[in-house]
Amino acid sequence: MVGLDESGGNGGPRAEREPCFILSPWKRSHSTSQTTVDSREVKNFQALAHTWWDECGKFAPLHSMNDLRVPFIRDNLLKTSATHHPGKPLSGMKILDIGCGGGLLTEPLGRLGASVVGIDPVDENVKIAQHHKSFDPVLDGRIQYRVCSLEDTVDESAESFDAVVASEVVEHVNNLEMFIQCCYQVLKPGGSLFITTINKTQLSYALGIVFAERIAGIVPKGTHTWEKFVSPEKLESILEPNMVCRLKLWQE
Ligand SMILES: C[S@@+](CC[C@H](N)C(=O)[O-])C[C@H]1O[C@@H](n2cnc3c(N)ncnc32)[C@H](O)[C@@H]1O
Repeated sequence: MVGLDESGGNGGPRAEREPCFILSPWKRSHSTSQTTVDSREVKNFQALAHTWWDECGKFAPLHSMNDLRVPFIRDNLLKTSATHHPGKPLSGMKILDIGCGGGLLTEPLGRLGASVVGIDPVDENVKIAQHHKSFDPVLDGRIQYRVCSLEDTVDESAESFDAVVASEVVEHVNNLEMFIQCCYQVLKPGGSLFITTINKTQLSYALGIVFAERIAGIVPKGTHTWEKFVSPEKLESILEPNMVCRLKLWQE
């Protein structure tokens, strides 16, 4: 199942299609010399790493987004599961959280009972995430963090996941097509892919870059590059040829 949640665009919520199922044959589809990691992005996130868990800081919007994205992921995953565990609804599920940052989304998914692997190419992010999860012994057993890129994970392990999450990440990567291919390659057959991102519209330029970066200073200048924003249509055009079932697009 793919739950494709597009946030930050214009217009109200819209459910265009049903959830989508993907088959993912395990094979490398990228050259080992290519990378999705952009060194400028790495520098930006290194500089901010100490602020991940400040709910009023630069990552405040990501903290707030948990109110939407955690139930969205939970509810869509529960639709794929026959067994229900009260209190730990995602128990038994293995999730890959790509670009986990400081673990803002990884931790609530772990608290819902899932085994979560959080990966991020920025060492400083993973150190913060490790440190923060150590405050909760329950999470310590359920979450593993690794400093690596998605393509490294595809190359180095034969691990596969019930769900892959890339939340607010695709607008920071190089080689988006390769990134999505790698997502498929780590999914179990019939697994779920959740992507959230900022839409590519004039409104997202005005709010996400002009207002948030230059006027209000909510996020540092240079955090986003409008050219790298991804429209739902662009994402659909990359996702669709690979899908064998349904796509759910949710836009706010
Ligand atoms: C806006 S943050 C989102 C963090 C987290 N997913 C959340 O929503 O709380 C983007 C994250 O993507 C990571 N990132 C950047 N390029 C990446 C890439 N090519 N592959 C995986 N993660 C990447 C950054 O280091 C950063 O932690």
